Amino acid sequence: MIITKNISKTFGQGTRAVRAVKDVNIRIEEGERVYIHGPSGAGKSTLLHMLGGLNLPTAGTVTFRGKDVYYLRDRGKSRLRNRHFGFIFQSYHLLPELNVLENVMLPAMIKGGESAAGIRSRAAGLLETVGMDGRLKHRPGQLSGGEAQRTAIARALVNSPDILFCDEPAGSLDSEMREGIYLLIRDISEKNGMSVVVVSHQAPDRGFFHSEYAMKDGVLGRMTNDTSEGSRETKAQMAKGFRMTDDRVQTAEEIQYLKG
Ligand SMILES: Nc1ncnc2c1ncn2[C@@H]1O[C@H](COP(=O)(O)OP(=O)(O)OP(=O)(O)O)[C@@H](O)[C@H]1O
Ligand SMILES: [Mg+2]
Repeated sequence: MIITKNISKTFGQGTRAVRAVKDVNIRIEEGERVYIHGPSGAGKSTLLHMLGGLNLPTAGTVTFRGKDVYYLRDRGKSRLRNRHFGFIFQSYHLLPELNVLENVMLPAMIKGGESAAGIRSRAAGLLETVGMDGRLKHRPGQLSGGEAQRTAIARALVNSPDILFCDEPAGSLDSEMREGIYLLIRDISEKNGMSVVVVSHQAPDRGFFHSEYAMKDGVLGRMTNDTSEGSRETKAQMAKGFRMTDDRVQTAEEIQYLKG
């Protein structure tokens, strides 16, 4: 579904240049749930933004279903993101002048082709699922961190994306709420074949993901952990014809480096 070829991102120039992401190759299949972790400053958010068409790589390419994401003009790129990608940002990015319900409705209103009443009821339903039904008319400035996060989750799901990018999606939630959100995401992923990329310091349940990557100093590496439920699940998926190609096999040394 998404394939990157040697993507890198350098911020700044000359002696102040920061190479945030270095030559990353990753392939995310339809329905695959990917977990990426690594220390603060490792380049995880930068990578996620590049995968999601939000940040032009300094070098390399990102393709979604065979199309170069960054080759598209601005309108084409916005359309692709609006229709196919869902984003839960580390810092929420809710629009302060819209209330909770309107924030969630917005991507569907932009997409069009559906009545406002239909969008409203779908948005309200999603907000109920994330436990925000009591806060529909609140503005983002009146919400707690966890409430803002749950609103952002509902917004990311409103257009039934093909791939959901999550940057610390549950960082502000208590453990019960966090578990609920991961169950919801997993459920949608299993029903609709939605792919999911989660970047987090806090690992979701092992059973949540099919593949695990570690990032350090801008370098991404695949972790191999054959005893985990996730990788057993991956093998079951592979047996069913779920394609997992381009599997970068890590040497013991590389894994040790990535584990820190
Ligand atoms: N817009 C920017 N301009 C300059 N440097 C940046 C910019 N964005 C990120 N960086 C730098 O790139 C590196 C990677 O940042 P990034 O936000 O991707 O890290 P991260 O792995 O998401 O960290 P965290 O776990 O703290 O969210 C950091 O050293 C950061 O300072
Ligand atoms: Mg980050």
